[in-house]
Amino acid sequence: MDATTQTDVLNLRNLETKVGPAQLAELAALSEDMMALVREDMLKPHPRKNAPEYTSTQLAALCKIERARINYVANKGDLPPGVSQGPGRNRGRVFTLQEARQWVQAESKIKKRPQGKRGKIVAVSNFKGGSTKTTTAMSLAQGLTLRGRRVLIVDLDPQASLSSLCGLLPSAEVTEENTVLPFIYGDQQDLRYAVTPTYWDGMDLIPGAPTLFSAEFDIPSKVAKNVNFRFWDILRAPLQELAAEYDAIILDTSPSLSYLTINALMAADGVLMPLPPRALDFASAAQYWNLFSDLAASFEELQYVKEFDFVNVLISSVNPQEAAARVVREWIVSTYTHRVLPVEIPFSNVLGTAAASSFGTVYDISKWKGWAETYTKIRDAMDQVVETIDNKFVQSWYEGE
Ligand SMILES: Nc1ncnc2c1ncn2[C@@H]1O[C@H](COP(=O)(O)OP(=O)(O)OP(=O)(O)O)[C@@H](O)[C@H]1O
Ligand SMILES: [Mg+2]
Repeated sequence: MDATTQTDVLNLRNLETKVGPAQLAELAALSEDMMALVREDMLKPHPRKNAPEYTSTQLAALCKIERARINYVANKGDLPPGVSQGPGRNRGRVFTLQEARQWVQAESKIKKRPQGKRGKIVAVSNFKGGSTKTTTAMSLAQGLTLRGRRVLIVDLDPQASLSSLCGLLPSAEVTEENTVLPFIYGDQQDLRYAVTPTYWDGMDLIPGAPTLFSAEFDIPSKVAKNVNFRFWDILRAPLQELAAEYDAIILDTSPSLSYLTINALMAADGVLMPLPPRALDFASAAQYWNLFSDLAASFEELQYVKEFDFVNVLISSVNPQEAAARVVREWIVSTYTHRVLPVEIPFSNVLGTAAASSFGTVYDISKWKGWAETYTKIRDAMDQVVETIDNKFVQSWYEGE
């Protein structure tokens, strides 16, 4: 279509004033068609996503050991030797994610989850849209696997962005049967049926899909039939049961106080609220804590006292170019004091690029082609967030010993 015809079409469309079911159906059909067209651009063909590979230097950093030790241990044959990169004494090796995780588990000093202790459940939550919940949930999960942990991520948002980050096209590829819904309907006794492996070693997924929205009708209908139905306590038991097999379960939630979000919060051992330092996000966070506190108080009346191991705010997507960022950051710190994590995530083009081209996070990039510093800045920050949260797990696993 040339520019003139396009303008004509746009002008014609502007003449339309009423939008009824037929026009909405047309919009839906057009979006679906466009999705089908751009789908292959957005999601690479199967296998759509590949986990990165790690050089000896990167592996040494993950294990927190000298690079020379990698060669020594690899030559002894105790751990996977990786693939040699060309001849010469200084030739490096390249390791798959799976191999790298084996190394981390064997070589790093990170404390393992004690036998008999279940993994920790973390809900990433904030009612404000676009506050980096999904990116934080996915990065946290990936970062934990790079510390040798086994992680399950659960997509509880009908937008299903977490599933997209795993390379799925939720509207077409995830059916109701793969989500938490059959358990909520009472058709399944536990959540095992929904767990699926991902492209990322050590990270399994319970996918989400637009159909998750049905939970918002099913749960209140159960309450209507039985006033004693514990609508907030549906997912806790099956998630805790699954947590016996994982070191961590990370729940991604929708930007609303939906029934699924309430269930995520009530199932969680810890809550992480990513909060960009922008005035509107700050105002929305104030409402969030109000609603959250009302909710906790109303359950208390029902003799259900919920206690979290931790509730933290993560200042995220900090853009020094935004004049208000510094001021709002101060508001956040003086309001949430010790609950604010000691590290913040910078706004980064690295993420923009990774997300736009293939739905990725900072951990999906194996070799950043731009300024090294640009990548290191956000990668180091995320590593620190992961370590801080992981230390909280370790602390509660070893508490009282
Ligand atoms: N540190 C960052 N720097 C730049 N862009 C970022 C950063 N973190 C996340 N983003 C981008 O911001 C957008 C929103 O992030 P994300 O989808 O994680 O937010 P969300 O809170 O899950 O949104 P929703 O409320 O719709 O679920 C995405 O395009 C993501 O790639
Ligand atoms: Mg999201």
